[in-house]
Amino acid sequence: MTAYKDAALKEAKKVLDFIIKDELTKVEKDTIVSESIENFNKNVNPGWLEYRKSVSTDSAFVEWTDSIDHFCDLYGTEFIDCLGGFGIYTCGHRNPEILKYVQAQLGRYALHSQELVDPLRGYLAKLLAMITPGDLQYAFFTNGGAEAVEMALKLARLATGGRWYISTVGAFHGKSMGAISMGGKGAYREDYIPMIQQVQHVKYGDAKAMEDAIKNLHAVGEKVAGVIIEPVQGEAGVIIPPAGYFKEVRRICDENGVALICDEIQTGMGRCGTMWRCEYEGIVPDIMTYGKAFGGGIMPITGIIARPSMWVDKLIDNPWILGSPTFGGNPLACSAAIATIAYMLENDIPKQAKEKGEYFMKKLEVLQKKYPKVLVTFRGAGLLIAMEFPAAEVGYSVTKGLFQRHVMTAGTLVNAKTVRIEPPAVISYEHIDLVMDKLDEALADTAKEFNLQ
Ligand SMILES: Cc1ncc(COP(=O)(O)O)c(C=O)c1O
Repeated sequence: MTAYKDAALKEAKKVLDFIIKDELTKVEKDTIVSESIENFNKNVNPGWLEYRKSVSTDSAFVEWTDSIDHFCDLYGTEFIDCLGGFGIYTCGHRNPEILKYVQAQLGRYALHSQELVDPLRGYLAKLLAMITPGDLQYAFFTNGGAEAVEMALKLARLATGGRWYISTVGAFHGKSMGAISMGGKGAYREDYIPMIQQVQHVKYGDAKAMEDAIKNLHAVGEKVAGVIIEPVQGEAGVIIPPAGYFKEVRRICDENGVALICDEIQTGMGRCGTMWRCEYEGIVPDIMTYGKAFGGGIMPITGIIARPSMWVDKLIDNPWILGSPTFGGNPLACSAAIATIAYMLENDIPKQAKEKGEYFMKKLEVLQKKYPKVLVTFRGAGLLIAMEFPAAEVGYSVTKGLFQRHVMTAGTLVNAKTVRIEPPAVISYEHIDLVMDKLDEALADTAKEFNLQ
């Protein structure tokens, strides 16, 4: 073997040894910490640790295990998870009721032949049609959120013949070329322009602006394929639209022959207190995306589900015209999603998210009154909650204070001015109380630091 092969094999064996061991020695733990920092700086991105771990006062926090509502670092330090992997961990971390089915499937076969009929994909599609509103029926599975958005965008064009999209300012739909074209934040788009050109962004929550945009395009001979919209804008800072907005959007799409795409990647699967946020809004989209919590916090799986009216003949004549992702709907991922659906139904996860969200909100109200100059306002839907601070530095200081007290939260893509609380729905009330006590302390420290008493 050439020298590089020897070295790479030795390196791989060393890491595999770390993975397979039940217990690591102190020397091994120290090695993983120092090598992880080096690896990230040399082979991932020199900016990553600086940016990503910015609230960590000690860069030695390397995650190693997790369980239900917390992460542990290599040395066993426990962090209560109030970030939930930005929505992945609704059913908790390594939920045993999900994990056992994934392990059973792993013992049988992991990925599909690509040629025979893979039964779990069919069962999952059927289950999804059962738990989604209205006549949503045909499911297509993908691996990441942005990929699901791509499928939704393509399907809207296929089904309607339109070419244009209407998105909203502040929107976040992922960062692939199509998805970022729909994005509503300049900083993430500017470097990639020109991308999909046929997009107009309108103000979120303003149905009239949306109707005008569609009508104007139609008046000049263009045709709109789809409106893509988050039921609650997550990354924009948990922006909840005015009551009735979605009913209006539905009407506008119906009257103009435009497909309504609801991006439920973050809001769906119980996060906002109902299985889907569009249920709360009382509407049925034409195409819906889902992801994040869908794989139970164990496997990545995302996708779309569409009404029969969207599933046009062209797609039936050539089932691969929309996409043919190699790993989409693989058996391992499907076993996780099926177990997740069962767990959510059996344990009424949407109700837990609703009730625990209300509990958080009551406690936040008390803290907001106590520290009105620090915690300017807060809002939420179920367990998708945002705290708003007067400036990014203030939010950053609170996040850092929480992290020092071993509670994990994070800013939104806007910045640390808005900090979100997005814990697993299985978080215990004792842990919520503990988190709020720590938040009280962190707010007190920040009030002192910035003279905001
Ligand atoms: C509403 C929404 N759509 C799409 C995405 C993109 O998902 P992914 O990061 O898996 O590509 C996200 C991710 O945060 C999201 O919140």
